[in-house]
Amino acid sequence: MKNIVLIGFMGSGKTSVAKELKRRLNLPCVDSDEVIASEEKRPVSQIFEEDGESYFRDKEIEVIESLSERMGWIISTGGGVVLNPENIFNLKRNGKIFYLKTQASVIYNRIKDDSTRPLVNVFDPLERIEKLLARRTRLYEEATDYIVDTSSLAINEVCDKIINIFLPKQKL
Ligand code: S3P
Repeated sequence: MKNIVLIGFMGSGKTSVAKELKRRLNLPCVDSDEVIASEEKRPVSQIFEEDGESYFRDKEIEVIESLSERMGWIISTGGGVVLNPENIFNLKRNGKIFYLKTQASVIYNRIKDDSTRPLVNVFDPLERIEKLLARRTRLYEEATDYIVDTSSLAINEVCDKIINIFLPKQKL
């Protein structure tokens, strides 16, 4: 069975959707940021602070390459995974990619009180989100196999959509 790979901006619900898919499909689930943090023995925010974004991105490439070897997993990724085309190339080898598309205002409301996301831990987070999203939307759309618009959907409804797309294709 292929992997279900979730991509999308911070706060698009990747982690929550992955957990719910794991429960409903009884498949194992892994989050690339958690693997990076555990291999580095420090949270992502601390990696950014101490070694900078490019160090994190190199580590992310390594981790994504190794997670992409798996089969039948739910793989949830960090919001910047699309910045390096080799990540997408690797993830597509054994996986179907789902882009959880979410409006900037919805993202802002979900993550405004979260200080663990270094890229939006700035004076005007909404402006930052809008800028990053404008820059990345094309990358998400080009990378993905399917787009699921999550702005007005509950976690369960997002999972319904993913399952309805993914499962029938696995039986062919
Ligand atoms: C990032 C998103 C974060 C994490 C890091 C960088 C990004 O993951 O990988 O802070 O560039 O958008 P989440 O999308 O899980 O918050």
